[in-house]
Amino acid sequence: TYVIASPCVDVLDRACVDECPVDCIYEAPRMLYIHPDECVDCGACEPVCPVEAIFYEDDVPNEWVHFTSANADFFAEIGSPGGAARVGPYTSDVDAIAQLPRGEC
Ligand code: F3S
Ligand code: F3S
Repeated sequence: TYVIASPCVDVLDRACVDECPVDCIYEAPRMLYIHPDECVDCGACEPVCPVEAIFYEDDVPNEWVHFTSANADFFAEIGSPGGAARVGPYTSDVDAIAQLPRGEC
């Protein structure tokens, strides 16, 4: 799967959403999350992010490895909706992201 990391926090450019053929990038208040089971590893999202927040899971920089679990944890309760457009933005992030200080990412 691909993973969205720290640069997305409080930026939420959303260019990635338009590129994803399976609509597996889900929005929350402070960032977007890639569904690890729905992502088909096409890689189309990675080059379009203007802040370079998206990485293949094996390439996530060490300082941001916890974002891999944050992306997965986001879907622990949600499950597999099968498409972000139909569910719309969610109203809360995972705790690890919600608790990040503002303006420090
Ligand atoms: Fe975030 Fe980049 Fe997508 S800022 S919303 S990962 S285009
Ligand atoms: Fe979509 Fe990016 Fe995966 S475009 S299928 S989230 S690699």
